[in-house]
This record gives sequence, structure tokens and C-alpha cells, in this order.
Amino acid sequence: MNGENTISEIEEKGVRYALVGDQIKAFLSGETNTYAKLANVAAILMDGFEFFWVGFYLKDNEEELVVGPYQGPLACTRIRKGKGVCGSSWELSKTIVVPDVTKYPGHIACSTATKSEIVIPMHKNGNFIGVLDVDSDQLDHFTSTDASGLEHICKILANSL
Ligand code: SME
Repeated sequence: MNGENTISEIEEKGVRYALVGDQIKAFLSGETNTYAKLANVAAILMDGFEFFWVGFYLKDNEEELVVGPYQGPLACTRIRKGKGVCGSSWELSKTIVVPDVTKYPGHIACSTATKSEIVIPMHKNGNFIGVLDVDSDQLDHFTSTDASGLEHICKILANSL
């Protein structure tokens, strides 16, 4: 995690996650369509933070994720279970924070601009449904505040699907 964030930066980010979380909750309560929900959550996250790429890889079958709604440059379409950060997050069923993508064995580079990454697995009724993938063009961008904020948003989203 980034050891150089000041207390006020950490607090500011926490406040932003709270505001974005409220915005997402309000939006989700008024919509029923899954793709509309995923697309607008990606847009709300992109608007609220300085991310390079944010979007979903959804479980397509027992072995593979397929790209879902996202914001950012063109990304790879399919990722196998256990491959890259997304496939590893699925296999290990945990959030993975990558401070420097060049040091993550097997990282799948969709853009050379991506420097750090966080992937959160999503479950509905205990079943894996996909991951939220967020890339930054800055090294070591993601802190424990991002991890807990994005995990919270993923829970709200997955439960609404
Ligand atoms: N870097 C990801 C692939 C998806 S792109 O970042 C959008 C991975 O290693 O799984």
C-alpha cells in the first residue's frame, strides 16, 4: 500500500467513497436492468476518481471471464480463471492490490499506461459473478481506503443484481 498518503488525503478519499457510494445506492434503487447498472456504476466511479480504466469482467462460464461494461481505452475481451490479476482474484476469491503491474507475475497488460491495479471479486448469494477491475496510470495508487471503499460498492452492486 502507498505509505506516502497524508492523513487528510486518506480522509478526503474516504469521504469521496462515502459520497460516491450514496450516489450509487440511489441510482441502483431506481433501476432493474443489469447492464444499465454495471454501465452506470463504471461511469460513476470514473467520474468520482482519477482512474485510468474501470469496469467489469463477468463470469461467462466455469473457466472464463468476459469483459462487461467499462470506461476507458479498449481492453482485452476474455481472461481465463487463474490468469492475470482478474483471473487470480476469481481463483483466490479475494481483493488483489498491485502497486506496480510490472512486478506482478502474469499481469495481463491491456495498456502500457497502466501502472497499478486493484481487482475486487463479486459474489451474489455466495456465487461468484465477476470482478471489478480498476487501473491507474500512477504507481502505487491504491490504498486500503480504495480496497474497502470499492469492496463496499461491489457488495451493494452485486446484491442489487
Ligand atoms: N490487467 C488485467 C487485465 C484487464 S485490463 O487491466 C483492463 C489482469 O491482469 O487481469
